[in-house]
Amino acid sequence: MTERLRIAIVGAGSIGCYVGGKLLAAGTTEVVLIGRPRLRDELSTHGLTVKDFDRAVTIPASQVVVETDVRAPAVAACDAVLVCVKSAQTEEVGAQLAGVLRPEAVVASLQNGVRNADTLRAALGDRRVLATIVSFNVVSKGDGLFHRAMSGPLMLEACDEPRPRALVRALAAAGLDVEERADLAPDQWTKLVINLNNAISALSGAPTQQLLLSPGYRRILGAVCSEALAVLRAAKIKPARLRGVPLRVMPTVMRLPTPLVRLVTRTQMRVDPEARSSMWEDLTRGRPTEVDYLNGEIVRIAERSGVAAPLNRRIVELIHAAERAGPGSPGLDAATLWTTIAGP
Ligand SMILES: NC(=O)c1ccc[n+]([C@@H]2O[C@H](COP(=O)([O-])OP(=O)(O)OC[C@H]3O[C@@H](n4cnc5c(N)ncnc54)[C@H](OP(=O)(O)O)[C@@H]3O)[C@@H](O)[C@H]2O)c1
Repeated sequence: MTERLRIAIVGAGSIGCYVGGKLLAAGTTEVVLIGRPRLRDELSTHGLTVKDFDRAVTIPASQVVVETDVRAPAVAACDAVLVCVKSAQTEEVGAQLAGVLRPEAVVASLQNGVRNADTLRAALGDRRVLATIVSFNVVSKGDGLFHRAMSGPLMLEACDEPRPRALVRALAAAGLDVEERADLAPDQWTKLVINLNNAISALSGAPTQQLLLSPGYRRILGAVCSEALAVLRAAKIKPARLRGVPLRVMPTVMRLPTPLVRLVTRTQMRVDPEARSSMWEDLTRGRPTEVDYLNGEIVRIAERSGVAAPLNRRIVELIHAAERAGPGSPGLDAATLWTTIAGP
């Protein structure tokens, strides 16, 4: 292995450009971004700016390498690949990577949902594939600016082999708050339950902070979470605690008065007023969402376990209807959203 780790970011969008930009700013690794031609044009005009709350760093366009094909020679030469595409694209990207990657390359899935690492493992055979959890939020602001709008760690499956170790060191050197877990699955289930909020954000168009500070939206978040936890219980799946707190208290927290919720969320994480879910971003840009891998996962487990999940099922339907309706969030206020999901 060369001293400077060569990292390919496959799927350079919000997460890929943010993590890639942090790695580039740290200057300890070689980085190639694999993205769409529109991203290449954006970064070649504006460079790549990564912003953490109030602090921004710009990497000049001349130092940002963007390829538009996963099968580019630069990917074939990589020591590590960070897969940052949406879940529906994982299988395709896995098959493309299988054709080019060296056997010793390590691959990490920086994606939501609980299936992506397994999908990559199925495509990539013996290569080491690590699941990860991106606990923070990144918003793409245009003109090459990627704004981190929420605090939280990057969690990885622990692995003692040299390339995964080198990758963890590189991510930590880039200023990411890296945490390793022997078994990441319980945390992935916790993240999935938290990500059920993404659909509420997408259907309402409201930023995360507004959702948390509105009793009407909190009622929906609490009910959806409560249903999902009952489904996971029926399937004997145990989600991890969230920053030390059992997830089962979340529906109760959602019912607290707003000043108390403000206090509780402040002790748990920092949420920028600009934070919004990537599902909202998908709807506003007219792209397919990951709802089938989030709320849809709860519906699938409910079916398998013989229990009902009417709220999550209805949310899946509503998001698909919004996808078909074309670019834009339906912008449903809390009362309308509640009756649309739960009935009058
Ligand atoms: N954004 C967040 O704050 C956040 C936080 C935590 C976790 N996550 C998770 O991280 C993953 C990535 O999310 P994201 O928000 O970063 O998504 P994103 O902004 O949509 O970025 C993915 C990018 O990859 C591109 N892409 C897909 N297939 C490609 C290919 N074969 N070659 C080149 N480019 C390709 C997509 O283009 P097209 O759209 O044209 O296909 C898109 O621009 C998701 O699983 C998400 O749930 C996101």
